Amino acid sequence: MIQRYVYGHPLPTDAVVRDLPVLPGDPDGLTVTQNAPAVTFSMKLEEDDLVFGLGETIRGINKRGHIYRSWNLDEVMHTEDRQSLYGAHNFLVITSGKRTFGLFLDDPGEVTWDLGATRLDRMDITSCNGNLSLYVITGRTPRAVCHEFRGLIGSSYLPPYWAFGYIQSRWGYGSSEDMHNVIHEHRSRGIPLDGVCLDIDYMDHYRDFTWDTDKIPDLPGLVADMRSQDIHLIPIIDAGIPADPSDPASEDGVRQDTFVKREDGTLFRAAVWPGLSYFTDYLNTRARTWFGSLYRPMLEAGIDGFWNDMNEPSLFYSPEGMQAAYAVADELRGKNLANDDNWKLQSSFGSLASSRKDYQSFYHDLDGLRVRHDKVHNLYGFGMSRATMDGMHAFDPDRRFLLFSRSSYIGAHRYAGVWQGDNRSWWAHLKLNLQMLPSLNMCGFLYTGADIGGFGNDATEDLLLRWLELGIFTPLMRNHSALHTRDQEVYRFSIWEHMKNIITVRYALLPYLYSEFMKAAREDDLMFRPLAFDYPHDEIACQTEDQLMLGNECMIAPVCQQNATGRIVYLPEDMLLVRLRAYNDMDVEPLKKGHHWVPARLHEALLFIRRGCVIPFAAGKTESTVGLKDHPLYLIGWDPQAEGYTLYEDDGITYREGSFRVLIPSDLPDSVFAEGEAT
Ligand code: GLC
Repeated sequence: MIQRYVYGHPLPTDAVVRDLPVLPGDPDGLTVTQNAPAVTFSMKLEEDDLVFGLGETIRGINKRGHIYRSWNLDEVMHTEDRQSLYGAHNFLVITSGKRTFGLFLDDPGEVTWDLGATRLDRMDITSCNGNLSLYVITGRTPRAVCHEFRGLIGSSYLPPYWAFGYIQSRWGYGSSEDMHNVIHEHRSRGIPLDGVCLDIDYMDHYRDFTWDTDKIPDLPGLVADMRSQDIHLIPIIDAGIPADPSDPASEDGVRQDTFVKREDGTLFRAAVWPGLSYFTDYLNTRARTWFGSLYRPMLEAGIDGFWNDMNEPSLFYSPEGMQAAYAVADELRGKNLANDDNWKLQSSFGSLASSRKDYQSFYHDLDGLRVRHDKVHNLYGFGMSRATMDGMHAFDPDRRFLLFSRSSYIGAHRYAGVWQGDNRSWWAHLKLNLQMLPSLNMCGFLYTGADIGGFGNDATEDLLLRWLELGIFTPLMRNHSALHTRDQEVYRFSIWEHMKNIITVRYALLPYLYSEFMKAAREDDLMFRPLAFDYPHDEIACQTEDQLMLGNECMIAPVCQQNATGRIVYLPEDMLLVRLRAYNDMDVEPLKKGHHWVPARLHEALLFIRRGCVIPFAAGKTESTVGLKDHPLYLIGWDPQAEGYTLYEDDGITYREGSFRVLIPSDLPDSVFAEGEAT
C-alpha cells in the first residue's frame, strides 16, 4: 500500500507515473518538524532495524550510521566520509522482525538523511526546501515494498541485448585508429567484445555532436566497419554546449532559446571541457526535444549507443566565481601569507567547481514555471537522459538503444542506465561496486555497473582480474579508466589469458543474466538483492555486506581482498558452489548451509546456486553476443530432479514481447549436477 502526503508546494518532477490522492495530516510513526523552509521527518530506530536503499551512495548495503545528502555532485573521491555522489535516489526501506516499510521523498532539491549517525537510535530526514511529496510504502517484505514502489515510478529502461556484452573504454580514446587497435587486440586474442567507447577526445575541441575529422575522417564508415565485426561504437556526450557562436549547436540553441539563464535574462555560462559553456534547460519540454534532436546525425551515421556525462551539472568554474577568486589573489599578492590568508587564497580557487553560488544563479523554465536551479538541482541529469532517449526514439521508436548516464534522479531509470562514476583502482571500490548494486536496483536502475578495474589510479593485474570476476555479473560490464593512468585493457597485462577466460564466463552466463534482467524489468523486481531480503530471519544473512542474491537462483560472493587465495562465504542455505575459470572450465561442489572458507585462486570466480535451482549456461565459445544466439544451452544445479529454469528470450533489439521457455534437466543431456555429499 502507498500513502502520499504533501508538504509545501512540490514542484513537478515526473519521478512517479501514478497520481495518488493526498492524505491529510502526517504519516503515523514519523514526527514532523517544520523549521521553515526545511521540514524534518524523524523516527526512532530500533536496534534491529535494517536500512536499505538510497541508490547510488557510498558505504555499505545497510545504510545505517552515516549522513547522506541528496545533492548530485561530480565527486572524484568515493571515500567513506563523503555524503553525495552523482545521483539522488530518495528511497529507502526500513525493516526488522517487527516492521517493514519504505519512504520516498519526491523532492528535487537538497535532502539530508541522518540514518543513525548523530544518534544511533534516531533517523532524521530533512528536506531543505520543504516542498515535497512523501510516499509511505508498506508491504510484507522489503522485496514487496520495492515492488510497490517500482509500480509507482514506472518500468525500468530496457537496453539492447548487445549492451550486455563486454565493453572497452578509456579516457583518451578518440580516433578511428584507437578503435581499430582496441578491436584488433581483442579479436586477435579471442577476447570477447561487443562495444568500444569514445571519450571526449573524439570531439572537435570537446564540442558535443562534432567529431575531429582528422581523427575520424569517416564516422559512418567507422561505425559500419566496427559493426561488420559485431562491435558497437559508443560515444560520450557532455551536458555543456560551448558558449561560442561558431559552434552550430551553440548558435542554434541561442537562437531557439534552449539554454538556462541568469535572473537578469542573460545566458548562464560556466566552464566544462570546452571552456565556457551554455547549459540546456532539460527541465523544459521544448529544450529537451531540441537537445534530443542533436543526436540525429550520429544516429544516422549508425550509432546506437551513447553515454551522457557531466550532467549533475558539473561546473569547473563560472566567470563570476573566477573573478572573485582573482580578486582574492590580487588582494593577497606579494604578502607574507599567514595561515588564514593562505587558506583563503587556496580555498578561493579550490571551491570554484560546482559551487552552490553558481547553482543559485540560474533558472529553469519548467514549461511556464520559473524555478531557481538549486531548488530542482537533482533533476538535471534525469532531464538529459530523457532528452536523449526521446531523441533516439524519435529517430526509431521501435529500437532499443544503449544509454547510460552519470547523473540521475528517480524516474531517470525509465530512460537510461547509470554507471557508478569516477571510482578508483582500489580494492575498497571493488566492494563498493557490489554494495551499490542492490540499492540502485531498488530505485529501478537495473542497467548498471562500475568502471571495472577502477577509473582513477593504476590498476594492478590482480585487481583487474578480481574486478572482472564481479563484472561478469553486472548488466553493464565496462572496463574504463582515466587519462594518464596505467593502460587497463585486458591485453596489457601478463595474465590476460585468465582475464579473457573470465570474460568468456560472462558470455556463457548471458542467457541467464539477460533472462533475469528482463524478468526483473518486466515484473518491477530486483536482479540484485541484499541477503536480508531473502533470509529476513537469518541474523548472519541480514548483516552480510559482501555477498548478494542474483536473480532467483543464485548468490554471488566475489573476492574483494588483495592477495587472498579465497574467502569466507556465508551460505544461508545449502548451495552448489560453482568455481568458474572459463566458459568451459569450472567445477562444482555441494556445500551445506553455514560459513565456509572457499578457496578461489586468482583466476577463479565464485557463484553459488540454491539447492533446488538450476541455471542455464551457453555452451561454446563466442566473440560477441551475436554468436551466442546459436549456442546450445545446458543446466548447472545440485539435483537432476530439480524443477528446471524458465528462460526469457526475445529479439534483443525491439520492444516486441519475448517468450518463456522452460528448460528441464532431462531435456538437456550435457547438464552438470553435484557429485558426492555436501560438506
Ligand atoms: C568524467 C567521467 C569519466 C570520463 C571523463 C572524461 O570524469 O566520469 O568517465 O572519462 O569525464 O570525459
